[in-house]
Amino acid sequence: MIQSASNHEPLIRLVDVHKRFGPMVVLDGIDLELKTGETTVVIGESGAGKSVILKHIVRLLKPDRGEVYYRSKRIDNLPERALVSIRYRFGFLFQLSALFDSMTVADNIAFPIVEHSKKGKSEIDVIVAEKLAMVGMDGFQDRWPADLSGGQKKRVALARAIAVDPELILYDEPTTGLDPPRSDEINELILKLKRELGVTSVVVTHDMASARKVADRIVMIYQGKFIFDGTPEAVMKTDDVRVRCFVEGRCSDEVLKTLQGKSEA
Ligand SMILES: Nc1ncnc2c1ncn2[C@@H]1O[C@H](COP(=O)(O)OP(=O)(O)O)[C@@H](O)[C@H]1O
Ligand SMILES: [Mg+2]
Repeated sequence: MIQSASNHEPLIRLVDVHKRFGPMVVLDGIDLELKTGETTVVIGESGAGKSVILKHIVRLLKPDRGEVYYRSKRIDNLPERALVSIRYRFGFLFQLSALFDSMTVADNIAFPIVEHSKKGKSEIDVIVAEKLAMVGMDGFQDRWPADLSGGQKKRVALARAIAVDPELILYDEPTTGLDPPRSDEINELILKLKRELGVTSVVVTHDMASARKVADRIVMIYQGKFIFDGTPEAVMKTDDVRVRCFVEGRCSDEVLKTLQGKSEA
């Protein structure tokens, strides 16, 4: 079990984060606090800036303006070498599982352990088996990524993300491309890792069934800002047409007209 310093101090804090690429404003003043042990789901249309938010949390991107904190430490302005000891506290499940195709399943999971510790082979083998068991994949050590199904690849990538016992797991569209039963296995794993490891999580998704199942809290990004922040129950009841349109997966002509009006305003 990972010890949290204090339940009051957020694990991660984004303060008024702005980011643009050329003329395109992607983040227009984002504030977000990730409470220790909580699962925050980020929803929003394709291209809204969800992955960009995740990349700011792990400092793969720097804000143009605003601040990012890990506990009480400001990290957006740290030099790369100072980030190494912080980044390994974060597990990242990338949108496309991003396994190393030239390595076996076991070596994929061992990779971050070798990078971040001086553990010997037998100790690493034990950890690899433990992480694979956690995602229901023990016994697949000697398989190659190319021989795995989409769902199995996701689970191995998740085993790799938890290999060095992160405090925070970031899931970028973990169920995209999976059929409903495989998606639900991933949802169950997200819940299990929270329960058994006490991790803090951020899940980016457009899958509302997944969002409602795993979220303690849902935030929605729209035109660079969060327009909703609340519980899964509240998201289903909101009157905001922009949120309803996304949540219900269909927008009436009236709503579309309102949305258009808003984006032109
Ligand atoms: N490194 C980058 N350089 C230029 N544009 C980028 C970069 N990363 C993301 N973008 C653009 O920012 C917008 C938000 O991207 P992204 O966060 O990936 O969206 P999504 O919500 O689908 O995850 C998109 O228009 C994307 O093309
Ligand atoms: Mg994305």
